[in-house]
Amino acid sequence: METAFHDLLRRMPKAELHIHIEGSLEPELLFALARRNGVALAHADVQALRAAYAFSDLQSFLDIYYAGAAVLLHERDFHDLAWAYLQRAAADGVVRAEIFFDPQTHTERGVPFAAVIQGLASACRRAEAELGLSAALILCFLRHLSEASAQATLEQALPWRQHFIAVGLDSSERGHPPEKFARVFARCRELGLRVVAHAGEEGPPAYIESALDVLQVERIDHGVRCLEDPALVQRLATARTPLTVCPLSNVKLRVFDTLADHCLPALLDAGLCATINSDDPAYFGGYLLKNFVETFQALPQLGARQAHGLARNSLQASFAADADKARWLAALDDCFAGLI
Ligand code: HPA
Ligand code: ZN
Repeated sequence: METAFHDLLRRMPKAELHIHIEGSLEPELLFALARRNGVALAHADVQALRAAYAFSDLQSFLDIYYAGAAVLLHERDFHDLAWAYLQRAAADGVVRAEIFFDPQTHTERGVPFAAVIQGLASACRRAEAELGLSAALILCFLRHLSEASAQATLEQALPWRQHFIAVGLDSSERGHPPEKFARVFARCRELGLRVVAHAGEEGPPAYIESALDVLQVERIDHGVRCLEDPALVQRLATARTPLTVCPLSNVKLRVFDTLADHCLPALLDAGLCATINSDDPAYFGGYLLKNFVETFQALPQLGARQAHGLARNSLQASFAADADKARWLAALDDCFAGLI
């Protein structure tokens, strides 16, 4: 790729709306935290751990991802994890990050909810102060666990209500449809939380529909399988429902064979509000800029116009204040002046 275009992809202001903070745990930090906390690991070193990152589907990834999270014990660990991600995001030109965290992965191991949220929230405040990056947290419920466990997690989270802006739904999709969480999402909406859900990554288009109809989500995380249902595509396009697409993740988890086979151009051609995101960058081979660069390299039909559109979609789809969005959108247009 030409250096000027690479530089444009980096400089353009953009939002990252689909990043699991536990999925930004690099093997080097994982080993450092294991040493600091006296946690024994199954792999001998960083190289052996990285070699295990060969996934056949979502579940084969989740097994390794949940095992890696076992090194996170104290508030400081969560701060260090999020701070490392936020520095990388800022270097990639991210001006707004809406970050998923999975409290049940930690509270089920005896880690206090307070340690998780205080560590993450202090890193978000630090990013605003030191990097000028606006960051917010999205609490995700693990869909392989029960609705009762999700309800209990929400209760634990309520004293920290001001520290997160939204709730989401992640983990093993097949066999765990959105409607399993209808009541807990209704309660979240009553509390004034924004709502999103993973749907249509490995699960069928019907899961995207029930995320919209039953959970009343405002964004669909992944959503790539919507293309199997033309009526659903029409609905998503008309409502401009954002899809947080994760190209490198999709290849690593074998949703698509290669980036050249990715459906992103079809999503854009269908008029959908697609965005590019990194999902679990430490496991899937790259942060946000690398997702843009490799996707644009693999798909020659994508150029400056699509880069501008994808960045604009991400800023518009974010839950940031309207005044912030307007400022970033104006800066984005300045970046592309004379190019589109
Ligand atoms: N899908 C579902 N759950 C997840 C993912 C994902 O891509 N990443 C982390 N948890
Ligand atoms: Zn995800």
